Amino acid sequence: MAKEKFITGLDIGTSNVKILTVKQNLKEERLELVSKIEETSEGVRRGTVVNVEKLSNLFKDLFSRKSQNLRRRINSIYVNLNGSHLFSVPSRGLISVSRADQKISEEDIQRVLQAARAINLPSNKEIFDVFPKEFIVDGEKGIKDPLGLQGVRLEVEVLALGGFSPYLENIKQAVLNSNLEILDMMPSSIAASRAVLTERQKELGVALLDIGAGITSLAVFEEGNLIYLAVLPMGSSNITNDIAIGLKTDIDIAERIKIEYGSCFLKGKDVKRRINIGEDEPLVFSQKFLTKITSDRVSEIFEEANKKLKSISKEKLLPAGIVLTGGGAKLPRIVVLAKNKFHLPVRLGRPKGISGMEEDLGLATVCGLVLMGADLEGKEKGFEFGRKTVSKIKKMFKIFIP
Ligand SMILES: Nc1ncnc2c1ncn2[C@@H]1O[C@H](COP(=O)(O)OP(=O)(O)OP(=O)(O)O)[C@@H](O)[C@H]1O
Ligand SMILES: [Mg+2]
Repeated sequence: MAKEKFITGLDIGTSNVKILTVKQNLKEERLELVSKIEETSEGVRRGTVVNVEKLSNLFKDLFSRKSQNLRRRINSIYVNLNGSHLFSVPSRGLISVSRADQKISEEDIQRVLQAARAINLPSNKEIFDVFPKEFIVDGEKGIKDPLGLQGVRLEVEVLALGGFSPYLENIKQAVLNSNLEILDMMPSSIAASRAVLTERQKELGVALLDIGAGITSLAVFEEGNLIYLAVLPMGSSNITNDIAIGLKTDIDIAERIKIEYGSCFLKGKDVKRRINIGEDEPLVFSQKFLTKITSDRVSEIFEEANKKLKSISKEKLLPAGIVLTGGGAKLPRIVVLAKNKFHLPVRLGRPKGISGMEEDLGLATVCGLVLMGADLEGKEKGFEFGRKTVSKIKKMFKIFIP
C-alpha cells in the first residue's frame, strides 16, 4: 500500500492566518489538498508578530479545530517569517579543506556556510539563513556543488538573510507556545516563489512581489539563485486606509469598496457608484476618483520596489520580469500599471502544484511552505519532490530552532 504523509504550512499574515494541509503520496509523488483554514489574524502588525499570546491562542484554537476535523493531530508545521525588519546581505566564507586526501566533505560545506554567517551586526540582529550563490575551490569559480571535489581552499559566496532578533523570537514563541513543532521557517517571499515561479524564470532573472495586507515582500532571483530579499512596510491595507479617508467612510466599508470596485485603471467613461452602507443615505462616489486613490497607492508601492531593484542594479534588467502575487495583486488591471512602472514584462503568480489553489493569489505563501516541506521530506526519502528547491538546506535553521 502506498505510504501517505501529511504536510502542513502556516502563513502568519497581517490580515489572515492561513493553514494548509496536504497529503503526500510518497509512491506517486502527488500532493492532495486535505484541509485549508483562513482566519482573521490577531497580534500581527505589518507582518511582524507583536502580541505573542493573542496569536498563540488563535493557533491553539485553529489547530485543535483542524485536528478534530481531520481526526488526526497536526503538530509539525512549516512556518513563514515576515516583517520589514528582515534584510539580506551578501557575504563570503572561507575555510581550509579538512580531509587528508583533500576531498571536500559535507562537513567542509557546512563549515564554510557557517563561516559565511559571521557578519558584523548590532547585538539585536541575527542571521537566520544563508543561500549559497557559488562555491569557489582553489580559485575556480562558479561551482554549484563542491561535494567530493578535490581542493585545499574552499570559499562560498552567499546571500545571508537576517532580522531583528526579538521579532524572530516572537514568531517562534507564538508557534511553540501553542505546542506546535517547527519543521522549518522561511521568509514569505521565498516560500511564495516556490509556488509561483518556474526554474526558468529564476535562471533568467525575475523579481517576485508578494503584495500582502500590511507589507510587500520582494525576492529577486538570477542564475537560479536568490540574490536579494527585502520587505516594504506597505501593502493593500494602505489602499483601504486611503479609500476610508478619501471617501470619508469607515474602514470596513472602504475594504468592501476596494474589493468590489477597486481598480488600477479606468476603463471607459467615469461612472457614479452608489452603495448601501446601512444608513439612510447611500454612499455615492465616482469610479474615477476611486481608481485614482487605488492606483496612486499601488504606484507608490511599485516605485518603492523599483528603488530596491535600483539599489542592486537590476532596475529594468530582469528578463523574466516581475511576478505579482499575494492578496493585494488581485486588483483588476494591476499588471498594466506594473508594466508601466517597471518597464518590464509582468504577470500574475498563481500558486501551482496543489490542485484547487491556482485561483487564489493570497495562498501563494502557504502553498509554497507546503511544497518546500514536500521537497525536504521527499529528499529525506531519497527523491526530490517535483522540481528543485531554491538551494535550500534544512540544517541551516538549526541555530534558529531550539
Ligand atoms: N479581490 C481583491 N481585490 C483587491 N484586494 C484584495 C482582494 N482580495 C483581497 N485583497 C486584499 O489583499 C490583502 C490580503 O492579502 P494577503 O492574504 O496576501 O495578506 P496577508 O498575508 O494577510 O498580509 P501580509 O503578507 O502583508 O502580512 C488585504 O489587504 C485584502 O484587502
Ligand atoms: Mg502574506
